[in-house]
Amino acid sequence: MKVLRVETAEPYEILIGGGLLTDLPEDLPRVLSTRNLALITDETVRDLVTEDLARILIEKGFRAEIFSFPAGEASKTMETVVQLAQDMVRAGFDRRSAVLAVGGGVVGDVAGFLASIYLRGVPYVQIPTTLLAQVDSSVGGKTGVDLPEGKNLLGTFYQPRRVYIDYGVLSTLPLAHLRNGLAEVVKYGAALSRELFKFLELQAERLLSYDPEALEHIIYESCRLKAWVVSQDEREAGLRRVLNFGHTLGHALEAALNYEILHGEAVAVGMVAAARLSEALGVAEEPVAEKLKTLLSRLGLPVGLPNDLDPESLLGFLAADKKVWHGRLTMVLLRRIGEFLFFQDPPKEKLREILRDLPKV
Ligand SMILES: NC(=O)c1ccc[n+]([C@@H]2O[C@H](COP(=O)([O-])OP(=O)(O)OC[C@H]3O[C@@H](n4cnc5c(N)ncnc54)[C@H](O)[C@@H]3O)[C@@H](O)[C@H]2O)c1
Ligand SMILES: [Zn+2]
Repeated sequence: MKVLRVETAEPYEILIGGGLLTDLPEDLPRVLSTRNLALITDETVRDLVTEDLARILIEKGFRAEIFSFPAGEASKTMETVVQLAQDMVRAGFDRRSAVLAVGGGVVGDVAGFLASIYLRGVPYVQIPTTLLAQVDSSVGGKTGVDLPEGKNLLGTFYQPRRVYIDYGVLSTLPLAHLRNGLAEVVKYGAALSRELFKFLELQAERLLSYDPEALEHIIYESCRLKAWVVSQDEREAGLRRVLNFGHTLGHALEAALNYEILHGEAVAVGMVAAARLSEALGVAEEPVAEKLKTLLSRLGLPVGLPNDLDPESLLGFLAADKKVWHGRLTMVLLRRIGEFLFFQDPPKEKLREILRDLPKV
């Protein structure tokens, strides 16, 4: 088992290991002083992981009750949070309770948000079960739900007491969702670690066949990088924005396609565009776009825009993103593979050119 520390105001550890969930009953008392556990999960993960987990917890004398909702982004709403809270109140969960978030990023965001406001806050731990959640969303304490007006518009910063990453549970994850998580790993490599990028280039095939050793390595490295970034900048005042590499255009693409594309797929296209922009603006000191494109293609991720999408519409969605950043569009660009820089307000003409010239798929 490997251990990483996140140095936020209230520090916590990330444990990574194959099969480590079987040790959960022994380990939980180190970080939680209660034995009343609400296991929040979605209906798919409930059958695959959560029922078994509840059973071993109950065997060891915990009270472990499962509260589930339908799988998918459509459940990431305030209505789900309210429903779960009502169910927990009726089941008698008081302030001496804790929440276990067992699932992908949707479960983690919903359960973390719920824990942060339930009876003014109860402790929670993250038990991520998708690759995306294991390398990204379970670490860093961003929680939240969507509104019809946009994604993640309600939420809190609320750090978990511990993150338990058992990559054994990934064996049932559909390949498309494995790739979805790999896109975020490429992000860490491209922006922050040449070694990680190299590893992905060398081990792409092993990763796509769910090789546990290769998975452990990329999960550990991704969490190490994210933990480092979050420790410097818990509230996203500066450095943490590096994690948005590929996301500015990625988010625009997701919105333009009505979220009918996986997040990682949109980010893959966004990373290629950001790399091309880095070259077009002359900030890249080595060719970065072709390297990214080759790696992402080998991982089975898209690197171009859908044929019927007007690149111009993406510019409109970018303008919406701009509001979030004090009226300025800050993009993460690449100096080289493994080395990023922040770039303010890239010229619209250049952006337009890059989007127009992206391959069509
Ligand atoms: N909080 C953050 O910092 C942060 C960061 C990145 C993304 N996110 C959020 O994460 C969400 C996306 O997360 P996601 O991609 O994990 O989506 P998800 O939670 O919807 O999971 C994807 C699908 O995989 C299924 N699944 C989960 N574990 C499985 C397993 N072990 N075997 C088989 N199927 C399994 C789920 O039921 C679901 O159908 C988005 O809402 C996004 O906004 C949050
Ligand atoms: Zn992302």
